[in-house]
Amino acid sequence: DEEKLRQFYIGAIDQGTTSTRFIIFDGLGEPVAQHQIEFTQKYPHAGWHEHDPQEIVDSVDQCIELATQAFLGQGHDISDIKAIGITNQRETTVVWDTKTGEPLHNAIAWPDTRTKGLVREMKERDGAGELQDICGLPLSTYPSSVKLVWLLNHVEAVRHAYEEGRLSFGTIDTWLLYKLNGGKERDIHVTDPTNASRTMFMNLHTVKYDEKLLKFFGVEKDKINLPKIVPSSSATEFGSLSYGILKGIRIAGCLGDQSAALVGQQGFSPGSAKNTYGTGCFLLYNVGEKPVISQHGLLATIAYDFGGNRKPVYALEGSIAVAGSGVKFLMNNLGFITHSHKISDLAESVENNGGCVFVTAFSGLFAPYWIDDAKGTIFGITQYTERGHIARATLEATCFQTKAILDAMELDSGHKLAELSVDGGMSNSNLTMQTQANIVGIVIDRPAMRETTALGAAIAAGFAVDIWKEFDELKEINQRGRMIFEPNISKEESSRMFKKWSRAVEMCRGWLD
Ligand code: G3P
Repeated sequence: DEEKLRQFYIGAIDQGTTSTRFIIFDGLGEPVAQHQIEFTQKYPHAGWHEHDPQEIVDSVDQCIELATQAFLGQGHDISDIKAIGITNQRETTVVWDTKTGEPLHNAIAWPDTRTKGLVREMKERDGAGELQDICGLPLSTYPSSVKLVWLLNHVEAVRHAYEEGRLSFGTIDTWLLYKLNGGKERDIHVTDPTNASRTMFMNLHTVKYDEKLLKFFGVEKDKINLPKIVPSSSATEFGSLSYGILKGIRIAGCLGDQSAALVGQQGFSPGSAKNTYGTGCFLLYNVGEKPVISQHGLLATIAYDFGGNRKPVYALEGSIAVAGSGVKFLMNNLGFITHSHKISDLAESVENNGGCVFVTAFSGLFAPYWIDDAKGTIFGITQYTERGHIARATLEATCFQTKAILDAMELDSGHKLAELSVDGGMSNSNLTMQTQANIVGIVIDRPAMRETTALGAAIAAGFAVDIWKEFDELKEINQRGRMIFEPNISKEESSRMFKKWSRAVEMCRGWLD
């Protein structure tokens, strides 16, 4: 059986906030070939964050081409690749003209806060208080809905297309599926429930678009083309690549990146959780087949929906807007380091944070705080402060927010987590993971192969084409070389640190624009 699985290959497109990857996995979940490209981050004004939709497609095309070349170079055949899965940054909003297939604006990326004023005004509207019970998300700058409303209100070409009934809307999964399938020719316009649950247009309980939600945002269903919501694993709904080196290969899986990471970490049983330190950091906690609407600042979302006779599975999510992007900020804006992976060395050049706390609120603060008007603030600077202290405080900021999220999760679920599986770029730093264990006071479990997001997309595709049929068959995947970090400071020390952080959070509110 193992021999057979070694001969099946699945490709995974992982389209993240700052980079795109294509990874080819074998049936044992081992990556055999890959390519990664960073693409342009556009910050036209303070708080604005955009991507060029065509550049994203080009980066995907190039990654597929180069990873596949490497795969062929190892002596494999294209026909060995049985299917492709897609996973993507969520919420990021793309609009295009249904007639031409061309984008009508840059994509508005998920951390963008231009809608801050709009959201403040919307919170006063009738019905605002009911939204979260329907869709699981609090009203904030984060979901796609407010980004779309902004585009409709401010971009004439978008408003025009809408009025004429030729406006297509999608998150990055939908946009990629549309383009990879050849655009308007085949007109594949679909999304999966994990992505749709981030738009704020989907009813979390019915997994369908909801009239009340659309009405609240003033979006008329017959004027806009919303993608059809289909299960995350499907052999028929996502089409196939219509061009390039893998032309004709079926796309069979589609999951938002945080859901994909949960699948890749095999968080299939209620009570399991994972934390992914990417551009942002996202903790997902599997709550089973019924949604739990948070009372403590978390999001309710679809964890995954494998279709067939399986019901959708839900998660509670703690979303942190800044993790790796904090490291990038130290590198690109302040010139502290020349490469992201050097951050750990810089942080280790000092013994502790030297009294600094950095609230990295570049997009306001997300879960569990939801403070729209928070701004990035460094507290505790003295003549003694060095770059190392600030580096350390930057890494700690994500660890503290993870702690606040775990506390909220305990209140919402009534359970205390015993351990947390981690992945993503910042999880490569042993110092950060040890700090994380110390701050949350539970065991941190890190796999050796940390491309769990891409692996999750490959698993969704593999299920659709019957490489695997039961979650149990995945048990052996990615178990090798896991590393455990146990807390090694006292509870008192840990809560003293967290208290300082909480004070800093309170003090970074209400900064004037
Ligand atoms: O919700 C945004 C999230 O999906 C982005 O993930 O890994 O690109 O930070 P990442």
